Formats: sequence, structure tokens, C-alpha cells
Amino acid sequence: MNDDFLLKKLNERQEQNAFRRLLLPTGKIDFCSNDYLGIVRNGLIEKKLAEQTHTTYRHGSTGSRLLAGNYALVEETEKMLATFHEAEAGLIFNSGYDANLGLLSCVPQRGDTIIYDYLSHASLRDGIRLSFAQSFSFRHNNLADLEKRLQAATGTIFVVTESVFSMDGDTAPLREISDLCEQYGAHLIVDEAHATGVVGEKGEGLVQQLNLTAKCFARIHTFGKAVGCHGAVILGSERLRNYLVNFARSFIYSTSLPEASVAAIHCAYELFPALHAERAQLQQLISTFQQAKGTWEKLVSDTPIQIVIIPGNDPVKKVAGALQAAGLDVRAILYPTVPAGKERLRIVLHAFNSMTDLQSVIKLL
Ligand SMILES: Cc1ncc(COP(=O)(O)O)c(C=O)c1O
Repeated sequence: MNDDFLLKKLNERQEQNAFRRLLLPTGKIDFCSNDYLGIVRNGLIEKKLAEQTHTTYRHGSTGSRLLAGNYALVEETEKMLATFHEAEAGLIFNSGYDANLGLLSCVPQRGDTIIYDYLSHASLRDGIRLSFAQSFSFRHNNLADLEKRLQAATGTIFVVTESVFSMDGDTAPLREISDLCEQYGAHLIVDEAHATGVVGEKGEGLVQQLNLTAKCFARIHTFGKAVGCHGAVILGSERLRNYLVNFARSFIYSTSLPEASVAAIHCAYELFPALHAERAQLQQLISTFQQAKGTWEKLVSDTPIQIVIIPGNDPVKKVAGALQAAGLDVRAILYPTVPAGKERLRIVLHAFNSMTDLQSVIKLL
């Protein structure tokens, strides 16, 4: 089969020094995974599930939730998630990507307006692209720009943001954003992917920490990061849940998560609220890194995602290479994933990283 037509764009990637490759784990010190609390590394879910010797969970769900793929444990887990996150209802999706795609592609209609933070994750953007509503971005965390967009919006208005931004590690001014939404009658959608398990006394996320649950139209919590599993839940009203069951195509036309995955999510939610020491250790590492002096520009971040800007794909790859040669698994984020000139090291901190390991990163930088 001739596939030469693929070469043009692949060559472009090579020329930009931005060619993506799949790498296998190399046993270096983890400064790149999303396992913020160490739930995966320490096998906490496996240990807890092993205690349930009387139960076995199926590894196939055999269909979409609307056909053979619905079962008691998934509905029970949705109720547990809604209770924990102080929502009326929840609907589990196979991934955060699926949740965002499903929600944004089906809720806003033609004539409506979606206003989203410029740094919103690809899954939010892809959902927005699939929607028939008009959409505008506002400058990252910029309330004045958001308000300008709100003033010009028509139809039902949706404002989309992340609570913790995946590529900058900073947090959204959610209280102020929710005030603006209230003032302009807009519906607030918050993606809590990187806040789940990490932000709040019990890892409940930023919305709950700020007491804003009643101000949100929808929240997305994903399970592939600090929760140490896979999948996501969309939280909102019972009516929103019914709507998604009827119209969210990534929910309807996909085989549901099997019992084994949902049992793991259930287990993780029994575990992570109590991981106070892990969250405290993370905070110590975060402050140490934020206070460290260095030559490179460092973004302000109160979360495990720490960013050091090293402009240019070549230079940032070189620095990441040097850190990796020293046994520290720090990854470079290249253009076009981030804007040209904003290439960066994305240093992800974990409760299991030692202060000595972090000092090695700082020293090398
Ligand atoms: C902000 C944000 N939302 C959604 C997702 C997608 O979640 P998942 O990995 O579960 O598909 C990610 C993943 O990187 C993310 O960073």
C-alpha cells in the first residue's frame, strides 16, 4: 500500500524537531507521570482489591451502557461520586477526553456561545469544534477579556475553563469567573482533571474547596491522574445526566468501562481522601521548587505541575536530555503543543519524590 502522502506532514514534524515517539519506561526517577499521590506506583488499588477475596470483577462490559454494558456497580459508583463531589448526579465516561468531547459537542446548540480559556485542553477544544455553537477563546485567566466576550455573547452562554491548567500548572480565578457567569447568566463548565485528588482537604477539587458547586453547570473529574485509574465523571443535575445519556455520542456509541475498571475507581475514592500526608508532602516539594533560584523563567504554580520555560525545541530538548542522563525523568513540551517561544520543561512533582531528588533537579537546572 502506498502511503507516501503521509510523508509531507511527518517530514514537517522532523524539520521542526518536534517528531513524537512512543517511549518505554526506563526506570528513571519519575518527574513526568500524573500519578501525583503515588497510588499507582505503590500499588494501593491492587492491595485494596486483593482484600476483597469474595468478589471477582469482569474485564469486559460487552456493550454500550444503553445496551448490554450497564450494571449495578457503575450506577452505584456514579451515586458515590456525586455524593463525594456534592453534585445531584454523575455520569461516568470512558476517559476525560470522551467526557469533554461528549459534553461540549452535544449541550451547546446552534445560536449558542461557548467562551473558553485560551489554554483549555485539547479534549475541550475538540468538543467545542464538534459543536454547532459559535465559540471564542478568552485570554488565559483574563477576567476583563472574558467579560468582553460575555458582553457580545448570544443564545445560551457556556464558559469553559480548567481549575488547574495542564500545561501551565496554574489555577483559574474560579470565584471571579463564577461571579461573571452569574452576572451574564452564563453556564460554567469546569474541568477538574488535575485538581482531583490533589486540591482540597480530601482532594475533592477546586470547585468544592471554594464552595462553588451550586454555581457550576457541569464539572469534569478524570480518574487517570491522581486517582490512579482510567475514566471520568461529568457531574451536574439529574436533568443534565439524562441529556447526556440521550445525546452524548462518545457515551452512547462506545463500549462502557468494565466492572474491573469501575471497581478500581470505587477503591481509589475510598483511598485518596485519606492521603493527607501525601498531599502535605506534595505541598512541601511545590514550595521548595517555587522558592528555588535559577536562571530560567519559572511559572508561578501552587500545584504539582511546575513549568520552566526554555524557548526553542532544540534548547529545551537538550536540557531535558541532560536531566534524563542524570536519571531524572523530566520531559520537554515542544512547539506545536505549546506556542513557539514558550517551549518548556514540565516537571511533575509526586508525593513519592524525595527532597534529595528534587534538589538534584534544581541543581542541574
Ligand atoms: C485538563 C484535562 N482534561 C482532560 C484530559 C483528558 O483526560 P483523560 O486522560 O482521562 O482522557 C486531560 C488529560 O491530559 C487534561 O489534562
